[in-house]
Formats: sequence, C-alpha cells, structure tokens
Amino acid sequence: KCRTVVLISGSGSNLQTFLDAAASGDSGYTVEAVISNKADAYGLTRAQNAGVPTEVLSHRDFNDRDSFDQAMAKLIDGYQPDLVILAGFMRILTPGFVRHFSGRLLNIHPSLLPKYQGLHTHQRALDAGDREHGATVHFVTEELDGGPPILQAAVPIESGDTAESLAQRVLVQEHKIYPMVASWFAQGRLRMVGDRAELDGELLPRSGKR
Ligand code: GAR
Repeated sequence: KCRTVVLISGSGSNLQTFLDAAASGDSGYTVEAVISNKADAYGLTRAQNAGVPTEVLSHRDFNDRDSFDQAMAKLIDGYQPDLVILAGFMRILTPGFVRHFSGRLLNIHPSLLPKYQGLHTHQRALDAGDREHGATVHFVTEELDGGPPILQAAVPIESGDTAESLAQRVLVQEHKIYPMVASWFAQGRLRMVGDRAELDGELLPRSGKR
C-alpha cells in the first residue's frame, strides 16, 4: 500500500476524505500521520478520531523558513511516505523542501489554476465577475501554486454568492477530486515527468484544462 502523510493547518475537511478512503480499505493508500503547523487545527482531532498519529510543528518555534522546513522534512521522513499530501497547509515551502519530496508532493488549490494563485481566491473570483470557479490538484514544484496540474473541478458562480458560499461549493468538489488523484498515485498511474503530470502514460496539459 502507498503510505501517505498529510499536512494541514486548519479544519481538515479534505483530510477527512483521505481518512475515510483509507479506512474503507480499497483506496490503495494509508494515512501514516497527520502533521499540522497549528496546534489548534481541527484536523488533528479528525486524525485522532481515526486513530492516526498526529504531530504539531509550529513555524513560530523556528528562526527561519529553512530550519522549519528542514525539521518538517525530517519529521515526515520518519514515516517513510510514498506520497505527501498538502491539505489546507498554509505555509509557503522552501525550494529545498519541495525538491526533497519532488514527484511525491501533492497540493489542492481553491481556484482554477493558473487563475488566482495565492490567497483569497474565492473573493478574487467574485470581484472579477467570473462565472465559474473551482479547485485544482497539482504536483508541487518550486513555483508557488504553479506546479503541473492533474485534475480540476469547476463550479458555477451564482448571483448572491459570498466568498463563504462559494468556498463551500468548491469544497464539495475538492472532496471528490483530491482522494481520486491520491488513489491514481497509489495505483502507480500518476507521476511527474519533468514539469508535466502523466496519467496512464499520457502527459496531461500544462494548462490544467482537461
Ligand atoms: C481548501 O479549500 C484548500 O483548497 C485550501 O484550504 C482549504 C482547506 O480546507 N488550500 C489553500 O488555500 C492552499 N493555499 P480543509 O482544511 O477543510 O481541507
């Protein structure tokens, strides 16, 4: 089975879908540990409820990004993961960290990348008057929110939407696509080749559109 470690900073609703899939037995992966940079992240409770080991590593205990990321990498390596899953982990990772886990580091970003890299994606989509929004699962590279896209899900933007209502609609889709991508990886169907993702032997478009 594919061993995963999940990194979180908050609620962990995406984490929950991995815990559920792993518990169901046929996902092809296990969650070996959940690591948070915030001690009060609700996702830690989710992990404990599922009997999964948790770790808290606060970035505030480190002088700089490099030393935090080195400690984080060491902690993760202790669980010998085949795949590291960022699920609402709200820290920018250093190039050294990203290189260390290159090809086995996934992220989900709440926008239709390459649109709206960075923060406040839902409000930015609303402010721009977009008619659709969504989420993207991608391999992580040194380029922030710029790594090769794997799978996107789009949702309509409706009149009267707020950032919160839109976020909820996007999250429903996140919970479908992220565990699906993880199971592709676990089945050996997905890999990173250069700066592209490859699924079942076919390179996926660099743009994210499928
Ligand atoms: C999700 O919407 C995820 O896409 C986003 O944070 C939320 C976490 O929710 N990630 C980012 O913004 C990464 N920059 P969750 O804790 O309930 O899974």
